[in-house]
Amino acid sequence: MSLPALKRPHLAAKPFLPYGRQVIEEDDIQAVCEVLRGEYLTTGPAVGRFETALAKTVNAKHAIVCANGTAALYMAARALGLGPGTRIIVPSLTFLATASAPHLNGAEIVFADVDPDSGLMRPQDLAEAIGRAGHADAVFNVHLNGQCGGLEEIGQIARANGLKIVDDSCHALGTAYFANNGAPSLIGENTFCDLSVFSFHPVKAIAMGEGGAVTANDPDVAAVLARTRNHGMTRNAVEFANSQDAFEAESRPNPWYYELVEPGFNWRANDIQCALGLSQLAKLDRFLARRRALAVAYDELLAPYAPRLKPVARQESCLPAWHLYAVQIDFPAFGLTRAAFMRALAEEGIGSQVHYFPVHRQRYYAERYGVANLPGADRYYARALSLPFFASMNEDDVERVVRTTTNILGL
Ligand SMILES: Cc1ncc(COP(=O)(O)O)c(C=O)c1O
Repeated sequence: MSLPALKRPHLAAKPFLPYGRQVIEEDDIQAVCEVLRGEYLTTGPAVGRFETALAKTVNAKHAIVCANGTAALYMAARALGLGPGTRIIVPSLTFLATASAPHLNGAEIVFADVDPDSGLMRPQDLAEAIGRAGHADAVFNVHLNGQCGGLEEIGQIARANGLKIVDDSCHALGTAYFANNGAPSLIGENTFCDLSVFSFHPVKAIAMGEGGAVTANDPDVAAVLARTRNHGMTRNAVEFANSQDAFEAESRPNPWYYELVEPGFNWRANDIQCALGLSQLAKLDRFLARRRALAVAYDELLAPYAPRLKPVARQESCLPAWHLYAVQIDFPAFGLTRAAFMRALAEEGIGSQVHYFPVHRQRYYAERYGVANLPGADRYYARALSLPFFASMNEDDVERVVRTTTNILGL
């Protein structure tokens, strides 16, 4: 028996808008299908091609692709020798992985405060955290929402204190930074840091399903990163220490031989992921242009409601590749909780999310280190909300989100 179609004009007129999502087009699907019809499902030619294209995109000498951004952060910590006995400064306003990945390599984490209006770690926050730590070995800075700020000063403070610098650039593929003399550089180029880490999770600028990468300019560090991704083993004959088993009589390497330098995990990305990544990377400029236009549309429509409802503070030194459209809402001033507001938005088919609950308050870290006084992180978190933002949205969607938001807030 066939049933009549259920008429739901309310839902049909208002498709659900998640806070973020991938944009997959027919040629992306074709690219993946080609890999599935071919020889390699794991490491094949698409891996190297993606690495070359990514390095070129961000102006880095080397890009090492891997399973996801978390693996990339771990690999970065390992490649820089940030293991047991070391201390790493991490801004509290970030995703768990910025702290947990290097911590799992043995480092202890010292959380830094952030600017309450942008969520970014400021130079003075880094200096304060180094002072509190007594001694630190590295900083993992975070380009929250796709913005960056104070990179030159952060670099100077880090270098003066002997810290290595890893930029967690998972939000910031395509972001540009302007130094104090006006010189532009791309995030990933590593002008003011040692390594940059990216994620290609579906809500990011480009999607690989799961995927991540580290960019590096030092070829030796790049080699360690590549080895770390692949069980900590090497097939490079010049690195072999066990010559008796590695080589034939005429010092030719045995064709089957590989050597374990230090134990590692399998954090390889495969050809299926990289074919999708390559196809998506070719669209990065278009996706970013769309995201920037959407951000302008949001900014204009929200302008009358500041300061109770406003976008996160902008950094003059940055041309962001917006990853999220994050606003700051003074919920108590509107007499409602964030949870009630998010539920009301969801009832209207609009998704939202909080980026992030400060990591220094997360159960594990609070139990391990106690809860430091980081008022900027607390204040940013109290007002944070990410509204729908992805490259296939249009200006009507933005208008709908702003209208619904202001209606619920009684504006
Ligand atoms: C700032 C930040 N760092 C690290 C990660 C981890 O990336 P992945 O999800 O690819 O492991 C994410 C992803 O959500 C992130 O937003």
